[in-house]
Amino acid sequence: MSFLVAKKDPNPDAYKTLDELMPISIEMIRANCPFDFDLFVKIADKYLKYIPKGQGIEEEKLDKIKQIESLKSKDVERLFIPKADAEAFEGYFDDSIEEAIESEDLEAEERFSIIEEIATTAVEVIFSEPESKQAFVLTEKAAKGLRKIIQDNPKALKKIFSKKGKKTDLIENHCKNVSALSVRLAFAMGYRGKDLDHLGAAALVHDIGLSSIRGEELNLLFGREDRRMSPDDKRMYQPHVKDAVRILSNKSYINPEILKLVECHHEKLQGEGYPQKLQKMDDLSQILSMINLYDKKVSVYRIDPVEAYQQLLQQEMGHYKLNIVKKLKDVLEAEEIF
Ligand SMILES: [Fe+2]
Ligand SMILES: [Fe+2]
Repeated sequence: MSFLVAKKDPNPDAYKTLDELMPISIEMIRANCPFDFDLFVKIADKYLKYIPKGQGIEEEKLDKIKQIESLKSKDVERLFIPKADAEAFEGYFDDSIEEAIESEDLEAEERFSIIEEIATTAVEVIFSEPESKQAFVLTEKAAKGLRKIIQDNPKALKKIFSKKGKKTDLIENHCKNVSALSVRLAFAMGYRGKDLDHLGAAALVHDIGLSSIRGEELNLLFGREDRRMSPDDKRMYQPHVKDAVRILSNKSYINPEILKLVECHHEKLQGEGYPQKLQKMDDLSQILSMINLYDKKVSVYRIDPVEAYQQLLQQEMGHYKLNIVKKLKDVLEAEEIF
């Protein structure tokens, strides 16, 4: 395999330790586009330089790596870049978003698809490295890209929202959907700029606390409706909100607005939510909490969108302001999701 060529590289810099590297996803790499960072791959417990700075990767080779990656389970094999090249990678990431938003060579569908993948990947990276600043910065950038494309393209939401992820991607897919739909609803309610970007970023990371629950247990809990959870289930599941706050707080790069939104994503009016049983919430927090419930019905429990909205109306009466609940219906109709 062509990876092995790297083993012969006499350059001592061809090997790095995991401490010096950060993971990136193959989906973030574009073909025929030279990088200004070194790209590493893990082979037999060694991290080898695969593509040096200044070189790109041909389409055929990229497709081959994607095929190999798709055969392996998640978190096993990854591509890496040196932490020292993080800034260069951020620039590359920015360019990918910009290109997806502005390129006239791409069909609208393709552009939505690229942004969708970028958002999902950002969630994947931050779940694998919850404490990493770079991972969070990528998430914020992805949220901004998502916001721009949703705000300017009436058809984008349907495309972004309707794609069903594989079972293993349920959480990433859910976070991406919550981000897209929350931002769209807030936009319809008149929010603009920073408010939308904070909401979008908070939605992408809102379930980051679930990264402390592992494997099978997480799959079972995440797939179980709140009202069907046993007291034991709740004891395991509900702390994910406090865990998220613990992960995100005391970090200079986390905006307090984002932190507050994450902290309130299971709160409801009248003290019906958790963990703080708040009586009052601002509108953006209500949007995130309500869309979180709505999307779990659609993306995780696979309930039809119209039925999911009906359930929301019946089950969550008084938990959110009526004008917000009604606006969601307008948005879903306008975006032809109903
Ligand atoms: Fe949650
Ligand atoms: Fe959630």
